Amino acid sequence: MSEPLYQLRDVTQSYRDRTVLKVDHLDIQAGEVLALLGPSGAGKSTLLRLLNFLELPSAGQISFRGQVINGANPAPLAVRRRVTTVFQRPVLLNRSVWDNVRYGLKLRGERNGDAAVASALEQIGLTSYARQQARTLSGGEAQRVALARWCCDRCAVAG
Ligand SMILES: Nc1ncnc2c1ncn2[C@@H]1O[C@H](COP(=O)(O)OP(=O)(O)OP(=O)(O)O)[C@@H](O)[C@H]1O
Ligand SMILES: [Mg+2]
Repeated sequence: MSEPLYQLRDVTQSYRDRTVLKVDHLDIQAGEVLALLGPSGAGKSTLLRLLNFLELPSAGQISFRGQVINGANPAPLAVRRRVTTVFQRPVLLNRSVWDNVRYGLKLRGERNGDAAVASALEQIGLTSYARQQARTLSGGEAQRVALARWCCDRCAVAG
């Protein structure tokens, strides 16, 4: 099996003196689909923030593509740009699908402009939706636009 995308070892997250998350050992492979279940307050969102490098753990080690990330605070921007979260109801600009993706990729430093937008839309199957207003999309389509505005070629999805 190839090197895991993520490796978590003895990770804990505490706020003040309260430990809200403990993960002894977790490997996540590229392309793997996982569901995270637990009651309210169990630490699900906390784990997602750690996997997005929005926070660093209080203790333990998180590796991403073989690179230990928690040595630097904040996590290097280049690593953060390789990860994203798609929310149930993503916030999109009140513009076209194309404009939303164009703006997102621009913020991520994508320099290939229109070509990158076209490629991202093709990857998530929304090429024919480019001119549609984002507010008129279905929930799942809006989520795909949220993904497309992040998935420039440098950040190949689950690649
Ligand atoms: N920044 C913070 N400061 C203090 N406590 C926090 C902070 N962030 C989260 N917590 C606490 O950590 C615990 C885990 O929160 P988290 O949001 O990860 O839960 P969750 O599993 O996503 O819950 P839910 O299903 O309700 O969304 C909660 O008790 C929460 O109050
Ligand atoms: Mg939550």
